[in-house]
Amino acid sequence: PHDVAALIPIIAGAGGIVTTWEGAPAERGGRIVAVAERIEGAAREIDASGLLVMPGGIDSHVHLAQPTFGGPKMSDDFLTGTRAAIAGGTTTVLPFAMQPRGAGLRAVVQEYHQEADGKAYCDYGFHLIITNPSPSVLGQELPALVGDGYTSFKVFMTYDDMVLNDRELLEVFECARGCRALVMVHAEGYDAIKFMTERLERAGKTAPYYHGVSRPEIVEREAAHRAISHAELTDVPIMIVHVSGREAMEQIRWAQNRGMKVYGETCPQYIALTADDMKGLNMDESGGKYVCSPPPRDHASQEAIWQGLTAGVFQTFSSDHCPFMDGVDGKRSPKAKTSFKWVPNGIPGVETRMAVLWGLGVAQGRIGMNEFVALTSTNHAKMYGLYPKKGSIAPGFDADIVLWDPARKETIRQALMHGACDYTPYEGLAVTGWPVMTILKGKPVCEEGRILGAPGDGAFLKRGISPYASK
Ligand code: URP
Ligand code: ZN
Ligand code: ZN
Ligand code: ZN
Repeated sequence: PHDVAALIPIIAGAGGIVTTWEGAPAERGGRIVAVAERIEGAAREIDASGLLVMPGGIDSHVHLAQPTFGGPKMSDDFLTGTRAAIAGGTTTVLPFAMQPRGAGLRAVVQEYHQEADGKAYCDYGFHLIITNPSPSVLGQELPALVGDGYTSFKVFMTYDDMVLNDRELLEVFECARGCRALVMVHAEGYDAIKFMTERLERAGKTAPYYHGVSRPEIVEREAAHRAISHAELTDVPIMIVHVSGREAMEQIRWAQNRGMKVYGETCPQYIALTADDMKGLNMDESGGKYVCSPPPRDHASQEAIWQGLTAGVFQTFSSDHCPFMDGVDGKRSPKAKTSFKWVPNGIPGVETRMAVLWGLGVAQGRIGMNEFVALTSTNHAKMYGLYPKKGSIAPGFDADIVLWDPARKETIRQALMHGACDYTPYEGLAVTGWPVMTILKGKPVCEEGRILGAPGDGAFLKRGISPYASK
């Protein structure tokens, strides 16, 4: 029944994968129709000999075009951010639609759709960020949006513009339980950070390096434990995102060992960077390039994170891509020079996420390639209601594929990047293993760093309820 002209077999050895693509009827287009030992008679073949054929990456924690309330502008929008994603082997991103304080949710979601519409090079969905848990938001808007495919949302335990107090967290958790949304928690304690920040500032310790000192692991551990306690009280699963080291990780493991549905996410910065990077050159402002929250820790923390990755404490490895320019419009603004607290938090990473995990993980024998696929793709799909559409190579799944060269040696550098940010925090990192072709719904969209796709190739994904969000 398939029009042979619409098939692409990706040949690895004699067999391969057949996908439908352009020209196929819309409802069937872009899917995998067969994975077979022998494939014959197709119009086009992609030679994948010597390469690994893996599910396209899914990055479930990305910030694009998010306003920063008086701070510098985020450097990637949906066009440049998703262009970077496909260049790095990622075919689906889940950015955030952030509710400014006092605003309704539905209008915010519409604004982000307008931002993204026609611009994305890869598929995308939205998590919501809840900053205003009013009765109407929790009673009506949120449940309705969950029903419309926005099935996860994030809450913050720090940041002036976003922090929720304990009472609000409990209300939101209870709401999530009712509508089976998956809650993502940014676990860092607001008051402790503020106390530490003011103490450092009084002592004249204002360089970017002190960003890390102002929010040590204790602050993250305390908030993680508090979030877990609230989750237990309200009987709801939670996902603690961007875990930086052993302390918070042990809280998650503790909860998991007690049978709680507490999940964990970690990120490239916690295996590839340390607090020392924030020292820059002699404690100057160049350290701002590594300022993110939670901050990178030390080498012992990196080892702890690897243990968590292999032991199953963490389900997902996401970028937390949150790019700001390393210039006066970003990390080095005049205000940022007065205190680390004005250095915008966040670093780019959507393009380098998979290469960093492969290079430091698989190529160095710390994790296997099946774990790599789970951590960069499959688990994200399962966790966030995209399975069985995304996250695997099998008939019926979207034909989102990355051809990966496990032998390719590359040095990560800004000149290779495809986003709008002016630096990569992984400059100079030598890795083995690199994406050589990214295929989105059957269409090659990037080959050897050359973008073949177009804005609008990516579509909005209405997500299902997360099976992990249900008790
Ligand atoms: O520093 C970071 N990670 N900024 C992004 C916002 C967040 O908390 O994920
Ligand atoms: Zn609800
Ligand atoms: Zn966060
Ligand atoms: Zn984030």
